[in-house]
Amino acid sequence: MTSRETLIHDLGPVRFKSLTMSNFLSYRSATLDFSDLTALIGPNGSGKSNAISAMKLLRDIALHGLPVALSRRGGYDQLRHRSTGRPYEPGLRIEFTVAGGHPCFYELRLSSLKGKRYEVKEERGSVLVGSRELKFQHAKGVFSAEEVSTLPEPIERMDRTIHIPQGQSILSLQPSFGVSIVSAVLQSMQVLEINPTRAAELQDPSPVSEFEPDGSNIASIVENFDQHERAQLAQLLAAVVPGIARIEVRHLADKVTVVFVQNTGKANREFFAKQMSDGTLRVFGILVAILQSPRPTILLIEEPEVAIHLGALQTLVEILRGEVDDIQIVITTHSADIVDSVDLDDLRVVWVTDGVSQISKVAEHARGPIIDGLITPGALLRADALDPSL
Ligand SMILES: Nc1ncnc2c1ncn2[C@@H]1O[C@H](COP(=O)(O)OP(=O)(O)OP(=O)(O)O)[C@@H](O)[C@H]1O
Ligand SMILES: [Mg+2]
Repeated sequence: MTSRETLIHDLGPVRFKSLTMSNFLSYRSATLDFSDLTALIGPNGSGKSNAISAMKLLRDIALHGLPVALSRRGGYDQLRHRSTGRPYEPGLRIEFTVAGGHPCFYELRLSSLKGKRYEVKEERGSVLVGSRELKFQHAKGVFSAEEVSTLPEPIERMDRTIHIPQGQSILSLQPSFGVSIVSAVLQSMQVLEINPTRAAELQDPSPVSEFEPDGSNIASIVENFDQHERAQLAQLLAAVVPGIARIEVRHLADKVTVVFVQNTGKANREFFAKQMSDGTLRVFGILVAILQSPRPTILLIEEPEVAIHLGALQTLVEILRGEVDDIQIVITTHSADIVDSVDLDDLRVVWVTDGVSQISKVAEHARGPIIDGLITPGALLRADALDPSL
């Protein structure tokens, strides 16, 4: 295990509670609460992907540092919220628990400098590990950390002040143990962006053990699966794509590819990933993502319904709900069938008023008829009648 994986392992179960976005992309101020399987629904351009972007940005900051993470998104200026009036200063706050309920948070606020540049206005956080509360704060280049024992006696305090370079986040610099924990937690999130073409091509054997979210090292990841995991992978894939009997990995000269053994009626036939359909490869990517080890703590999947047979969507949701107790899942979806397969309390409706995105649970006036079985959430989605402002 890498040191990051050890840190996550030692923390015990991590559970994401909420993400608050302030002046971030289409959001002025909104909080997304997470459940085990959270489904974001709402019209095109309402802000579903923007919320996923916020999670991805936090991960990228922890992995690559703030300047790189921002430039990969098109720069600081692009992520400030714009509606009426001047652009505002963006901020993100994430709350999670570790070890069965200890509350933790991390918050980042940026502010504008001349010439579309930015500085870190403030970063703050706190993690509760055992009886130790590790708090930290960074404002305009000055970092300080404090460790407080939550036991009545003795109360220890440890203060230290460190200078942080301009424009950097402490998440990648990790000046204290508390920050290292938060950084590891954020790095353990994964945003899945399966690209069937990348998953299908003959791949270079990958030295990294982490699954690339576009599927570009999927063959090497599956090669590291043990017999049991490969059998489980084939079984789950067969539930969605009938006839899949076995999954193998084949080396061809210096390349590697996944081989699907499919029952075609009379005999088993082998197909290289290149010959498989886009939909199959997308489902396969989702399954590898949930079976990979170490597991991500939270997996975010945009529109899992793309290229998947309508009749198979319910099965896919059942897999996401049933097979993966240890990973939280967040999806965005336009599929009425998926919406009908998800718990009512797990739906988050995203909508826009005056250029500002809002997030809420399904409105009270819609819940009654749904609970009484008069209408399904999917039917309300089709009728565009889930928007709580209606
Ligand atoms: N900096 C910004 N300030 C304000 N609004 C923004 C900003 N950046 C993007 N937006 C708005 O966010 C919209 C895109 O939102 P997003 O990609 O989250 O939509 P979505 O709900 O995922 O839609 P779809 O279902 O089509 O994928 C843009 O159309 C734009 O209106
Ligand atoms: Mg989107």
